[in-house]
Amino acid sequence: MSSNKERWGSRVGLVLAMAGNAVGLGNFLRFPVQAVNNGGGAFIIPYLVSFLVMGIPLLWVEWAMGRFGGKSGNHSTPFILDSMTKAKWFKYFGVFGIWTNLAVAAYYCYIESWTMSYVMHSIGRSFAGLSQLEVANFFTNYLDISTTTTGIPFEAPIFYVLCLLLNTWILSRGLSGGVERTAKIGMPLLILFGMFLAFKGLTLGTSGASPQHPDANAWAGINFLWNPQFDSLTNPKVWLAAAGQIFFTLSVGMGTIHCYAAYVKAKDDIALNAMSAGWMNEFVEVCLGSLIVIPIAAGYLGLDWVKQNAGFGMAFQTMPFLFENWGPFLATLAGVFWFGLLFFAGITSSLAMGTPWMGFMQDEFNWGRERAAWSFGLITLILGLPTVFLYNYGVFNEYDYWAGTVSLVVFALAESVLFAWVFGMDKGWREITEGADMKVPNFYKFIIKWVTPRSEEHTSELQ
Ligand code: TRP
Ligand code: TRP
Repeated sequence: MSSNKERWGSRVGLVLAMAGNAVGLGNFLRFPVQAVNNGGGAFIIPYLVSFLVMGIPLLWVEWAMGRFGGKSGNHSTPFILDSMTKAKWFKYFGVFGIWTNLAVAAYYCYIESWTMSYVMHSIGRSFAGLSQLEVANFFTNYLDISTTTTGIPFEAPIFYVLCLLLNTWILSRGLSGGVERTAKIGMPLLILFGMFLAFKGLTLGTSGASPQHPDANAWAGINFLWNPQFDSLTNPKVWLAAAGQIFFTLSVGMGTIHCYAAYVKAKDDIALNAMSAGWMNEFVEVCLGSLIVIPIAAGYLGLDWVKQNAGFGMAFQTMPFLFENWGPFLATLAGVFWFGLLFFAGITSSLAMGTPWMGFMQDEFNWGRERAAWSFGLITLILGLPTVFLYNYGVFNEYDYWAGTVSLVVFALAESVLFAWVFGMDKGWREITEGADMKVPNFYKFIIKWVTPRSEEHTSELQ
């Protein structure tokens, strides 16, 4: 039994922290790229179906598992799973719920560190007067550790270490003093920054067309994303990408929701909290995430350019260049807003990735909070160094595939079977609805038992 007595400070703080966990780089960088690469409007239906049959049920299941495990003093997936069954081996699946987080944190914090540096470069006007190619090269040079063209030697590793130190420090301040406080500041700012940029994306229209790009049109970008198409519904690749995006963006199948929910009081609501955080994520992803990169890029460079160049480098290689069209003041503001938004999105997620490891060490080895936090920082640093120094060799993508895609679905399948079939759906339903401040639709009992595990199985077979 642990001496881990952390608790959330308030309901608003809990929901914002959970929303912060879900809202991340995935909403702004991964979603638009996945959508464009999978046919735009053709992506949306599989995405929404995956949200309804896997996303929503898994949110309830994971919150319920977390609060249940917390009642017996468990705050990480190995022992949360263990508390739900007599079978001794289920807890080993729970190891995914720690490992995934450490491995994803390693490359995720690296991207997060770029956003810190890019906020600084936006304020310092590093991109002023550069050509599109030069702005793109700025990023390539940034990642190439051996050059110093950005003005600071070893800039990328330095910012990576700074970013890890910041994460570690916040984590060491505890759940309500660190994580919750960060979410309460970061989430409102993120939404504010996002609304500003989305407004620009929505109103740009054809005003960005130029002799080199006469057919540039921001609305064409929006249209491409939001015109549902039915032709690719039978394409398994599109389904896989859509399901993968739902998992990644909601942070399900990762162990972070369980961990956060384990600090909820036994009788407190989880049903409505889960929906509040989950829908907030969807709002940010679908409304803000789709109205920034794609329309702004299509508005200046044309939709064809976007289709050919969609990749997450766009955020760093293209956006700072396009912002310069708005004059020095607005360009600086937009740069700070854009990279600041990415930074807040990133840090509220990377903090979540730290907590399962911390909960585990605090519960099982009676470690103090500081020690648990610093050890997380150290492990992430060691795991992350290959992505920093071997970026150009594809290490980064390997991490994203194994830890950020495959592992999530495997773990989600295991936990769904455990919840609905081993723990039992009747008991499970009571856990979800106990203390609930909303009426959970009854048909979700059926969905959680039959549809969710089946869909996960399909998805893992597609992988
Ligand atoms: N949901 C986050 C995003 O959209 C990513 C994320 C949060 C995550 N917590 C995680 C990924 C834990 C892996 C493990 O960017
Ligand atoms: N494999 C399913 C099919 O071919 C499609 C699919 C994949 C799916 N993932 C899904 C359907 C998630 C529903 C939910 O029919």
